[in-house]
Amino acid sequence: MENIHAVYNGKFDYLKNIKISPLSRAYTFSDSVYEVIPFFNSLPIAFDKHILRLKRSCEALSFEVDIKEISKEINELIFKSALKNGYVYYQISRGIDPIRSHMFANDIPVEIFGYVVSHSFSSQKLKVMFCEDLRWQRCDIKSTSLLGNVMSMNNAKNKGCHEVIMHKNNIITEGGASNVFFANDECVFTPKLSNNILPGITRELLIMKIKESGIIVEEGEYTLNDLISAKSIWLTSSTKGVAQVSEIIDQTTNIQVDHPLFKKCEEIFISNFLM
Ligand code: PDD
Repeated sequence: MENIHAVYNGKFDYLKNIKISPLSRAYTFSDSVYEVIPFFNSLPIAFDKHILRLKRSCEALSFEVDIKEISKEINELIFKSALKNGYVYYQISRGIDPIRSHMFANDIPVEIFGYVVSHSFSSQKLKVMFCEDLRWQRCDIKSTSLLGNVMSMNNAKNKGCHEVIMHKNNIITEGGASNVFFANDECVFTPKLSNNILPGITRELLIMKIKESGIIVEEGEYTLNDLISAKSIWLTSSTKGVAQVSEIIDQTTNIQVDHPLFKKCEEIFISNFLM
């Protein structure tokens, strides 16, 4: 973890050398958005989709950014790292205030920070926990305001879990840092997009590719009971890829680890994006 390549406000340096102001609005208000862009064999996965989502997050918070420059910086980070497989973390805050104030000054330039690390994308089996979704009502924005996720995921970690599956009044929303899928013997299901769910890029890629191969995918509103009776459950994200759930603590489920429909979806994902 010594020499992590990073960039701060246009200047490339090692992560350990970067110093930020305590008046960064990322620090005082989580007034910032981010992306996690995976790359495999030195090539970003679904780069345009990540850039488009970052642009939308910035627009939602009225951040003015130069998307061309951002795209160049992300590619430059991957190039400088000389890593084969990994991801770029890239964060944009509204900027640095002259003094902390909820109401921001209009003329502060955005503050941009990114770094690149290696990642193996190896397949995982996840132990998860159900929890109430405690978050705000704009989870479709990829904001760094993740305290609800952080509290729930660390509570789950203390119970030996890798992830949580969140629900609002019994309706499944998403994982703490992932989207949720489940399947019976014939069909794949996933919660439909809404303001309570991040529109995951891995989710989008998987749906597109498995539909192309003839698998039926239904996007809708599902309950915890739908998950409890499912034959297979998996979570998707840029760092987890497609990761099956092996156990939901405190629940008796019908999960069949390595269920054939999951294996088919996993194989489709790997052959399209991780080979
Ligand atoms: N998180 N939902 C939430 C709340 C997430 O944080 C993530 C990803 C996803 C999946 O999105 P994608 O497939 O585009 O990665 C869904 C990233 C990886 C993170 O915060 O580290």
